[in-house]
Amino acid sequence: MSWVQLQQVGTDVAGGLFYKKFFQVQPDATKLFPMTVRMRYQDWASEAEEKEDDLDNSPAMRKLWAKVIDAVGSAVAGLHDVNKLVPMLNQLGMRHVGYGLKPEYVQLAGTILVDVLKEGLGDAFTKEVENSWVMVFGFMSATMLQGFHAMREEIKSHERSMMSSSRALSDATSRHSGSASATVVNIELQAAQAAAEEEEMLRRESEDVVAPLRNLPSLLEKLSQLQAEDTSDKVHWDP
Ligand code: HEM
Repeated sequence: MSWVQLQQVGTDVAGGLFYKKFFQVQPDATKLFPMTVRMRYQDWASEAEEKEDDLDNSPAMRKLWAKVIDAVGSAVAGLHDVNKLVPMLNQLGMRHVGYGLKPEYVQLAGTILVDVLKEGLGDAFTKEVENSWVMVFGFMSATMLQGFHAMREEIKSHERSMMSSSRALSDATSRHSGSASATVVNIELQAAQAAAEEEEMLRRESEDVVAPLRNLPSLLEKLSQLQAEDTSDKVHWDP
């Protein structure tokens, strides 16, 4: 099965190919990985040194993305209990708000992951294996994004309640000074409009997130079929 082969080849090799391709298409995302973040994933076993201005040859990035591929691959191999996986992925998605993730990066990550696996596993990456990775990635990323959006909504609602406290404060101040300032009213109107727009955007994004989850039953069936397969002698990897 493709996961066994990938482990033989090394998820860090795949991780290295993955992040380079990802940054080629989405150079903006490099901002999420300053040296302070990369230091957390330093590969002490690597002979290459982590250099601030050389993201192209970063052992830490290779290691971090190997972790991500590991997370998806072990789900493809059915190594997780789906009931435990869902809350875990939700929390992972919540943490990614703090990491600066943009939801559109996730879709791109799925496309690039499949490209890398195709390249690395060649004929062993059959259409059937590809479908399983696509489905598992779709399920995992949708579950992560649910947590991501829930956390973002929570942050927004804190911001809104802070906004209304500051509004109450400014009302009280203007009552005391005896005049309601037109500027304060204007700012309030703009804030209310921005909050309404944000709510509508979140509603639309949540619909995008929930749609892939409807595939879950067929995903589970595919997973059990996949685990029954073994094509481990077909691997070739030429990064
Ligand atoms: C299904 C896709 C993904 C999975 C399973 C995943 C998983 C992980 C895991 C396990 C970590 C280690 C830290 C932790 O456990 O919180 C991590 C860190 C990180 N991820 Fe993801 N990730 C995914 C997609 C992405 C994407 C697309 C980006 C942005 C390009 C991203 C940005 C980051 C960053 C910046 C960190 C480092 C955070 C830090 O330590 O400060 N992730 N990810």
